Amino acid sequence: MSTDLTKNKNSINKNEDYSNSQGVICQYDPFCVGFDKLLCQQPLNKEEFTALLDNNTIHLREQLAAAADKVRREHFGNKVYIRGLIEFSNYCKNDCYYCGIRRSNRSAERYRLSKEDILSCCREGYTLGFRTFVLQSGEDAYYTDERIADIVSSIHEAYPDCAITLSLGERSYESYKLLFDAGADRYLLRHETAVKKHYEQLHPAAMSFEHRMQCLQDLKDIGYQVGCGFMVGSPYQTHEMLANDLLFIQDFKPHMVGIGPFISHQDTPFASKKNGTLEDTLLLLSILRLMQPTLLLPATTALGTIHPKGREHGILAGANVVMPNLSPTKNRAKYSLYDNKICTGDESAQCIRCMDRRMEGIGYQVVIDRGDSPNRK
Ligand code: 5AD
Ligand code: FES
Repeated sequence: MSTDLTKNKNSINKNEDYSNSQGVICQYDPFCVGFDKLLCQQPLNKEEFTALLDNNTIHLREQLAAAADKVRREHFGNKVYIRGLIEFSNYCKNDCYYCGIRRSNRSAERYRLSKEDILSCCREGYTLGFRTFVLQSGEDAYYTDERIADIVSSIHEAYPDCAITLSLGERSYESYKLLFDAGADRYLLRHETAVKKHYEQLHPAAMSFEHRMQCLQDLKDIGYQVGCGFMVGSPYQTHEMLANDLLFIQDFKPHMVGIGPFISHQDTPFASKKNGTLEDTLLLLSILRLMQPTLLLPATTALGTIHPKGREHGILAGANVVMPNLSPTKNRAKYSLYDNKICTGDESAQCIRCMDRRMEGIGYQVVIDRGDSPNRK
């Protein structure tokens, strides 16, 4: 296995003998070839991605994390970007089997923030050093195009030096365009899985895989910096399916990718399903960083939930974004996508300072910056 980034540049056909980085003739081994290709920033095929995931050892994770850290530092130094997350409504018309705020969950206590509430979160966030606000909600019909556009343009006017990220789920092309024109810069819409059959195992029939993928394409066409993503270890997921997620990302080239472990929620049909693991998530973060060195890649709250140092491990594996919660403390516990979510108690009021300390503790620095994608149009 080679760690020399300059070798093995030629593409390799499977089932053919080839000369490895030491010049030794050997049989095609998808694991070794996949590893070498990742380090040389060449595209991998499904078999190669699958082989890496099948051989997730501490040794592999350490090697890929070291290489991921190196390429990340070339583009971003030791900077970690922060996004102020404002979860402004937990009403949702969808019924995804995994999600705690799904429509059918009668135990979820629903809330909505007013425009004034949202603006006051931004005011507090700006003072704390946030230069990106992420407005996230369930798919809540109360927030019509007109209402959201009004909120977006008010934030844009009040904080012209800040980026606005939306994460409102599936909407029409026209709606996305209107919100972009109102001043939104970025949009997060996880694709959840790149395999239609798997999508149908995670969502009821009313939701369409094709529509979700169309939304992502529309967002890109309009000019947003776009984030897709998926849960690691979601029910029924196989390594081959994850390889399909990576192939989709390799082809779609999003600006951002959000991944975190699946964590079961007690009031959902997936209450008794197994959680995703820290180890799988870390391996995937390193792979993603190596696939796309300039990617904006958050160490997510779900990662911080399955392990007390999950976000720190995520940064060390190649992530370069953290998204502390800016929502009013009284609402935080209600935005409960999964059980035991962190940063929802009294101790969370100063998430950002906590994050500064956590990142400094591992040699990284939280910066006051919009943190745009180097690849934006
Ligand atoms: N565990 C982990 N992540 C979840 N999400 C929703 N429910 C869960 C869960 N139980 C993720 C989905 C969604 C994002 C907002 O949160 O991927 O797109
Ligand atoms: Fe939220 Fe530490 S980041 S309490």
